[in-house]
Amino acid sequence: MTARLLRSVAMAGAALLAGCGEWPAALTPMGEGGDRIARLFWLFTIVCAVVWLLVVLALAIAIARHRVDRADPLAEEPRRDRAARRVVGACLAATGVILIVLTGFSWWTGKGLAALGERPALTLRVTASQWWWQVQYEDDQPNRVLTTANEIHIPVGEPVQIKLEANDVIHSFWVPRLSGKEDLIPGRQNVITIKADAPGRYRGQCAEFCGLQHAKMALLVVAEPRPAFDAWREAQLAPAAEPQEAEARRGRDVFLSKPCVMCHQIRGTPSGGRVAPELTHIGSRETLAAGTLPLTRGSLAAWIADPQAIKPGSNMPRVDLDADELNALVAYLESLK
Ligand code: CUA
Repeated sequence: MTARLLRSVAMAGAALLAGCGEWPAALTPMGEGGDRIARLFWLFTIVCAVVWLLVVLALAIAIARHRVDRADPLAEEPRRDRAARRVVGACLAATGVILIVLTGFSWWTGKGLAALGERPALTLRVTASQWWWQVQYEDDQPNRVLTTANEIHIPVGEPVQIKLEANDVIHSFWVPRLSGKEDLIPGRQNVITIKADAPGRYRGQCAEFCGLQHAKMALLVVAEPRPAFDAWREAQLAPAAEPQEAEARRGRDVFLSKPCVMCHQIRGTPSGGRVAPELTHIGSRETLAAGTLPLTRGSLAAWIADPQAIKPGSNMPRVDLDADELNALVAYLESLK
């Protein structure tokens, strides 16, 4: 009986892990913020598990020692009553101590997270919209303020402060391996600080239900060594490259003559829309439509041909293009490295 129960539990656990593919990201932290939160999680989990086991054990003992064959079940037993009162009193005191200790650790974690943001190496402004992220790198020189979308590059080992805002509804910024969650609320600014201890790609996800495509509102944080980050930033600051191939040049004409320019901006061209993701260097990004698709020629074509089939309800409309126009437009966007 017990063996069968254990086997079922093990199988359920294995199925759960297989479903997730790997150990949950929040429990494999790769930065100080994520570390602190994972430690707090384990402390709470272990303390609560021990308390639960003790309660179940006490219950089992009480059931095992239960006696029904006494002559008078209501007779007073002062000695047993005194012992029971002492046990209940001790448990009450222990509950108070555990609550105070856990509250103290929570406060200490929050203090550590706040301290992380005291001397940021870099300040970003991330604005959430249904269903994508605008990313802006602040700089004292206005011509060095960089705007991009859905992909955040950061230097390894340096705290990066992120000011969070929202355009429409409440969203939540969450990159589980680097930090906890922080809401993006229309009309106010919240701040979160992230720091990556190792180079790599860290997936982020909107963590507050924000409408139909909430699940397709991911972002990517790319942490790289300082020189690589500086090179990336300089390259991103440059206006869009002049297309070399005839097809890409035709694609630029398609882009500029169609409604694309009403919403999107490609620096270096007359387009100046600000309500949709900035596309100046879209060809250098790894994903499309806020992490919905990998950025490839095929997915670009599929997305432009029918965005509503891929992300129903998003603000990207279907624009009438014939096959040649679509091919040329995709070639142009892909060339924007
Ligand atoms: Cu944005 Cu959920």
